[in-house]
Amino acid sequence: MRVYKAILVFFCIVFPVIAFAEKAKTIDELAKMYDSSRCKSCHAEIYAQWEKSHHARPLMGVADGLMLVPVVKASAFTPKDPKQATLKNFPCVKCHLPQALISAEDSVAAELSEALLAGDKVKVGKLQITCIVCHNEKAIVHRLQEGNPEKNVIYGTKNIDSHPDKTFTKVKKSVIMTQAIYCGQCHGTGPNFEFENPVQCATLYGSYQHSYIPQGGFQTCQECHMPMVNGKADHLIAPNWNDKNDSSARLSKAINLDVQTLGYQWLRKAGALTPMVVVNTKISHTAGHRIPDG
Ligand code: HEC
Ligand code: HEC
Ligand code: HEC
Ligand code: HEC
Ligand code: HEC
Repeated sequence: MRVYKAILVFFCIVFPVIAFAEKAKTIDELAKMYDSSRCKSCHAEIYAQWEKSHHARPLMGVADGLMLVPVVKASAFTPKDPKQATLKNFPCVKCHLPQALISAEDSVAAELSEALLAGDKVKVGKLQITCIVCHNEKAIVHRLQEGNPEKNVIYGTKNIDSHPDKTFTKVKKSVIMTQAIYCGQCHGTGPNFEFENPVQCATLYGSYQHSYIPQGGFQTCQECHMPMVNGKADHLIAPNWNDKNDSSARLSKAINLDVQTLGYQWLRKAGALTPMVVVNTKISHTAGHRIPDG
């Protein structure tokens, strides 16, 4: 009996500690857990592309505008006291920082609130959709069948028995990595009704499924947005809105404005010619979904 009690006490003490130790209490701890800087030494080109991408600065906003400031200042989610903020004050992390939901304590949300109010871009900028977020956490969607992503596995486009990274020692094929559903996890289908106050941000995946595909489109997000550069999928995943010249060039290539005009004279009554014009405009584009989104 005593042994049984001792075991029970052991479990009561040890388990909460373990569960607790698995979650990050600070922004620095969370950033460290998903830190992908070591991937750079072997995947330099992909790393350089990713660093310039929006996925590398998902809480910064276009031109580092700190777009989460309105959430903590004046929204349905604004905490009464930023020091008391919890992850519930940030429904945005579902897609902008999914690792927070599984690996962060509420104290990270409180620290984030304070950093946003202080305009601390260096701190907010540490929170990224890193290589590990995409190649581990987001690599499996059908978890009842396939289970959760394994801790020491990087998921990619093929199986590789030994991968020379110190933590991720294997590469396994993810069945969704090259499919649109993979991007759809964050690129949205409509309002997110699971929150007490539903929020709607990106809905582009909805438009891909309900407009592009039914109209006969068959390319994936990856085929259009991650073309091969030197034999590897481009991780800039353009557009990068901070690069205005490149974005304008892309949009002017993708959007067509077709204008047809007919000028004529309307003979209302003898001798009274009224000049008239008919203008037909048609805007079309080559994207696999509505643009702009959001
Ligand atoms: C369903 C996933 C999802 C949720 C939830 C979500 N976002 Fe987004 N958000 C995205 C994606 C993906 C983009 C970029 C692509 C796009 O705009 O189509 C984006 C873009 C943005 C942009 C424009 C780009 C920029 O960086 O300035 C802002 C601002 C933004 N989100 C704010 C928020 C805020 C604030 C919340 C929470 C209240 C939130 N989002 C919740 C997925 C989401
Ligand atoms: C010491 C070098 C090294 C480090 C560090 C490293 N990798 Fe790799 N990685 C490789 C090699 C070599 C391959 C095999 C290349 C091949 O066969 O295409 C590979 C393969 C991969 C693949 C599979 C490619 C595919 O075709 O699907 C992915 C994904 C990947 N690495 C991601 C990462 C990530 C993420 C990190 C950081 C956490 C990382 N790697 C760190 C060397 C490294
Ligand atoms: C973990 C969630 C997540 C996944 C998975 C994801 N994205 Fe994103 N993506 C985002 C967020 C959040 C942003 C906006 C970041 C910001 O606010 O600047 C974004 C930005 C972008 C942008 C830049 C344009 C814009 O409006 O911000 C493109 C293009 C893009 N994503 C395409 C893709 C494609 C293609 C895939 C699949 C290969 C993909 N994303 C997978 C969350 C994700
Ligand atoms: C937004 C999610 C996302 C992020 C962030 C991301 N990847 Fe990927 N990665 C993908 C997808 C999707 C593919 C498969 C593209 C394809 O082949 O269609 C891929 C493919 C790869 C491949 C195989 C490339 C090839 O074409 O052979 C490697 C290696 C890789 N990623 C490494 C990395 C590294 C290293 C980082 C961080 C610097 C990183 N990825 C960040 C989504 C991501
Ligand atoms: C047929 C090619 C094609 C497919 C398929 C496609 N896109 Fe796009 N996408 C484009 C083009 C073209 C643009 C306009 C900007 C550019 O040229 O880079 C764009 C723009 C975007 C933007 C910026 C949206 C904005 O607000 O202007 C995001 C985010 C994006 N795509 C994500 C995705 C995701 C996620 C998928 C898959 C669900 C996808 N795309 C499928 C071609 C495509």
